[in-house]
Amino acid sequence: MKWIKTPLESERIKYIPPLPDLLSDLSHIALSEGAKTTAKDDAEQIAAHFPHSYGRPVLRFTNEGGKVEAAPLRVGVMFSGGQAPGGHNVITGLFDALKKLHSESVLYGFLRGPIGIVENEYIELTDELLADYRNTGGFDLLGSGRTKIKTGEQMGYTLKVIEELKLDGLVIIGGEGSNAYVAVLSEYLLSKGCKTRVVGVPKTIDGDLRADLLEISFGFDTACKIYAELIGNIARDALSSKKYYHFIKLMGRSSSHITLECALQAHPNIALICEEVAAQKKTLEQIVDEIADVVYARAEEGKDYGVVLAPEGLIEFIPQITELIEELDTLLAKGKNGDVAQKLSPENRAFFALLPIQVQQQLLLDRDVHGSVKLSHIATEQLLIHMVRENLKRREGFKGNFTTLSHFFGYEGRSGFPSNFDASYCSALGHVAALLVHFGCTGYMALCHNLPYPIEEWQAAAIPITMLMAMERKGGTERPAIPKTVVDLDDEPFIYFAYQREKWALGDEYRYPGPIQFGPSRLTEQPTFTLLLKRRG
Ligand code: FBP
Repeated sequence: MKWIKTPLESERIKYIPPLPDLLSDLSHIALSEGAKTTAKDDAEQIAAHFPHSYGRPVLRFTNEGGKVEAAPLRVGVMFSGGQAPGGHNVITGLFDALKKLHSESVLYGFLRGPIGIVENEYIELTDELLADYRNTGGFDLLGSGRTKIKTGEQMGYTLKVIEELKLDGLVIIGGEGSNAYVAVLSEYLLSKGCKTRVVGVPKTIDGDLRADLLEISFGFDTACKIYAELIGNIARDALSSKKYYHFIKLMGRSSSHITLECALQAHPNIALICEEVAAQKKTLEQIVDEIADVVYARAEEGKDYGVVLAPEGLIEFIPQITELIEELDTLLAKGKNGDVAQKLSPENRAFFALLPIQVQQQLLLDRDVHGSVKLSHIATEQLLIHMVRENLKRREGFKGNFTTLSHFFGYEGRSGFPSNFDASYCSALGHVAALLVHFGCTGYMALCHNLPYPIEEWQAAAIPITMLMAMERKGGTERPAIPKTVVDLDDEPFIYFAYQREKWALGDEYRYPGPIQFGPSRLTEQPTFTLLLKRRG
């Protein structure tokens, strides 16, 4: 699709992201096998679910092999799940690598996510088409979707399309759910004697898909930098006008990696971290009390302004809220409506009454297709503002002004122009995915590691997805899944934050990261603090 390009876009599509030295020339690329692997947990059950693919070794790439003799490859690719900046570069990286391996290789893109392969909707990806998408954000080249391919019938259609298109490989760009699907599909194809290799590429802005060689998923870098720019701008505005408290909710599902990285970038007065709330079993009142303490202490110094960050998953970690939601779920499932709040237990009813009306309505009405509360849609920032205000009213000595503004940063960061880091990272991941197809590896995730170091020094590897898996027990059923990685409170990024935060609470030590730079590499290729501090730790 052609569209009118902005001057920056026109320049940006011409940018050639540097590749790691290892991947710059594929003519002598080779694979070395490490030790056999097991599962993250429940090894026996995972082995039983994946009899054809369990236990395979970790793979590392070197460029010390003999001359590569490649045949033309036929490969399909799809996005799966939410957008993350850099997705288009995975596809252009994959395309470039396939063409480098053999100029007659062909790449097909399935439309609208996994459903595209079941419904046999695809386009051929050509150099001309891809030219407009290089280094651009979004997933609009193909579209994406969250449909889960589960039934035997859907698997059957997938196999049929793979066979009709004579695919040597299928590359799935997605988060933990989509990579679990890579493992399931590759096992299914092996069980049917199909030789098509299925390869995963780690995507999600949430930063919660991690393992030993999987240092970060793509998209996290750009999304955090976009949010951090906005937070820095807001902090400077607060410091200029000195009249508002800004409560900012940040995307990231149940983990707080994004909030932590943004805190490290912009030094807000307060950043709540779900994992700490859970570890310390904090109640909502405690959290609110702590925020009110900071507002109070700042007011004593004549500062009636500030910036508070809260991860979108926060309320999942507050037992009072989860208990309330559970009871509401049960009552609503029984078909009670209208006066449902009156049917709550006395404790839950009292707690419900404390919540702002907007949140009460979201808890009662805003349900997903399974009837569950859409946690990310709950206005946590409003809830905190309301409760902090009530708390301050009860404090006799409070003489300040508590004027607030609320924000939610999520979608703003998911489709931005990828940072130089993500542009290179994604091109490199596309190359690794192509190589995995070339070398006949299935059920693997394409990886680059050594990411805190200069791009030239990045290494390429692949891990069998079963190695990341454990059994997930949910709603009375069990299935193999990839557990999410939450913020590690004993790891350097959190330790550094915890050491600094008292200073940030009262002092105005805001940092202003500014926009993502597309200029000299000393500015543009800086990875996140999340990666840099890990290297130091
Ligand atoms: P993925 O897990 O698919 O990468 O999506 C991440 C995310 O952006 C979350 O941070 C957020 O909670 C969710 O997607 C929002 O989903 P939707 O796009 O369906 O509103």
